[in-house]
Amino acid sequence: MYCTRKVTDDLIWVGADDRRLPFFEGVYGVPDGVSYNSYLLLDEKTVLFDTVDKAVYGVFLENLAHELNGRPLDYLVIHHMEPDHAATLELVLQRYPEATVICNAKIKTMLAQFFPMDLSNRIQLVKEGDSFSSGRHSFSFVMAPMVHWPEVMMTYDATAKMLFTADAFGTFGALNGRLFADEVDFFSECVDEARRYYTNIVGKYGPQVQAVLKKAAKLDIDYVCPLHGFVWRSHFGDYLEKYMLWSSYVPEEKSVLIAYASVYGHTENAANILAARLCEKGVKVRMYDTSVTPASYIVSDAFRCSHLVFAATTYNAGVFVTMENLLHDIAAHNLQNRKVALIENGSWAATSGKVMGEILSGLKGIEFYDQKISLKSALNVAQMGEIDALANVLADELAPRPVVSASAPAAAVEVKAGDVDKKAFNKLCYGVEVLTTNVDGRDYGCIINTACQVGSGDPKVVTISVIKKNHTCDMVMKAGRFNVSILTEDAPYSLFQRFGFQSGRDVDKFADVSYDDRSANGIRYIPEFTNAVLSCEVVETRELETQMLFIANVVEAKVLSSAPSCTYSYYHAHIKPKKNPAPEQKECWVCKVCGYVFEGAELPADFVCPLCKHGRDDFEHVVPNAKPKQKGYVCNICGHFEPCEGELPADYVCPLCKHGRDDFSPAEQ
Ligand code: FEO
Repeated sequence: MYCTRKVTDDLIWVGADDRRLPFFEGVYGVPDGVSYNSYLLLDEKTVLFDTVDKAVYGVFLENLAHELNGRPLDYLVIHHMEPDHAATLELVLQRYPEATVICNAKIKTMLAQFFPMDLSNRIQLVKEGDSFSSGRHSFSFVMAPMVHWPEVMMTYDATAKMLFTADAFGTFGALNGRLFADEVDFFSECVDEARRYYTNIVGKYGPQVQAVLKKAAKLDIDYVCPLHGFVWRSHFGDYLEKYMLWSSYVPEEKSVLIAYASVYGHTENAANILAARLCEKGVKVRMYDTSVTPASYIVSDAFRCSHLVFAATTYNAGVFVTMENLLHDIAAHNLQNRKVALIENGSWAATSGKVMGEILSGLKGIEFYDQKISLKSALNVAQMGEIDALANVLADELAPRPVVSASAPAAAVEVKAGDVDKKAFNKLCYGVEVLTTNVDGRDYGCIINTACQVGSGDPKVVTISVIKKNHTCDMVMKAGRFNVSILTEDAPYSLFQRFGFQSGRDVDKFADVSYDDRSANGIRYIPEFTNAVLSCEVVETRELETQMLFIANVVEAKVLSSAPSCTYSYYHAHIKPKKNPAPEQKECWVCKVCGYVFEGAELPADFVCPLCKHGRDDFEHVVPNAKPKQKGYVCNICGHFEPCEGELPADYVCPLCKHGRDDFSPAEQ
């Protein structure tokens, strides 16, 4: 029986889930399954976008026939020839002999390779920028080589403001009835599998992903339709933000990945001790046994974490096999820009450290710590100092600095239920506050500047508004209650950094504070640099364009100090550091709120600052003096640019896609 879902009034998802596939591409375990997405447009002409894997062809063909409801299939657009999407092309083309294939020249070549059927009169070739109309809908085509194969292209539907993105923005995981990303708590439940999908499937091709993101930034996009996983119709900027990090090999978080390979537990013991020392110092650690956890999960976290520690025993005069496989996998996925520490073990001739270093040494931006720890069979007491030293070096770079000075503790103030001190409201001004809440035992907080008293009777009523993309906004929605700590003029900039310039999705903002003051509702408040705290129960919300407005009754209010409230203008004039002009500026966009710098000429229309969550309108475009263009050659397959004044050498091979000189064209950049 058919199983379909509407994306819009005239676009229908006709794909299918596969929950029995043990290994995607024969190598990546998919315990949560995978979806193969295919979309059918019912316009004046009917258009099918891609097909599905052969494992689910039955329900797919039923879906297609049901939704066509007797109409012919006029067009089949092929974005990607990998068989997880293309295996059923032949079946579709046989069933619908009137259908014309729309594809590019490389796809046409691969079609003939996979399916020896005569399609000579049924193919309409398109290239970058070509357009096509199915009636009400107008399409243009965007070439996306190496995302994830060289033939990949995307289609933009200007009528629906919809981009069909092939593998890009896909995830592992079956849809399980949910089609849209906003039908799940994507960044809690699904982002790990999205990261594992991206890093393992497309991670090697960061420059090509960046190239297509630049093209996509010029499009007005309301819907993103990938070939795996969820359709995006809201909050796509949050996901795009992850792609910007992953594809530019920028870590998502300051943390340490420890991966160890241990035969009898001695190397594991050293890794455990290092992890314990790091955690004591407030460093976030993600830890894996390479003999237990499949490499795809560890590769994924290697893209997530800023610092990597590999610990392995020597084996066959090399390195233990599961570590060797992992490191080759990381190298094959082109990970860059990480700091790496190595721990080797060997009972007579330790070689694992040298081999591990060699495997990773060819990667761009990989920096090794001098402290290579070499164990002889087992960690001994004398070497504990070496573990401590490594932990200290890592912690110096990673441990968040405490915001609250232990030398200036605040007087603990107990806010009793029902105490509403009217004087607390006198502290409100156009100022800055810390909004806090608690969900499932975890604390969240962010900076706001919108608390305002709107009712003086009883109960007292306040409003606050919070940027919708802000994680604390979601948490206040869930909790239905919050505290507002009204900040004072002596609040340090580090407090604004802590609560305003990082996301509770990624870090625990209270991880290392020295206080745990809570009002009677169980929610934390900020006891220092705060002159009053209000505890509130949400009674109404109103969704604005970028903000969520909360109307709330004040159930407790307390004055903490007589220090003057910090106004928004005081913060900008006296607390926020002044910008230093960069000595060598690249073209970039600078966030006027927090100073975050986005490097590049184009800032996507829906870009959201990863630090403070403000949108594109709050960015300033900085254009340095134009540099003279550089002559060279561009790879027609993957887009790699090779600077070169004369001729490319006859035996030149593209460092990314390995195609030869014949596939290069002269270009300037
Ligand atoms: Fe989902 Fe590259 O195929």
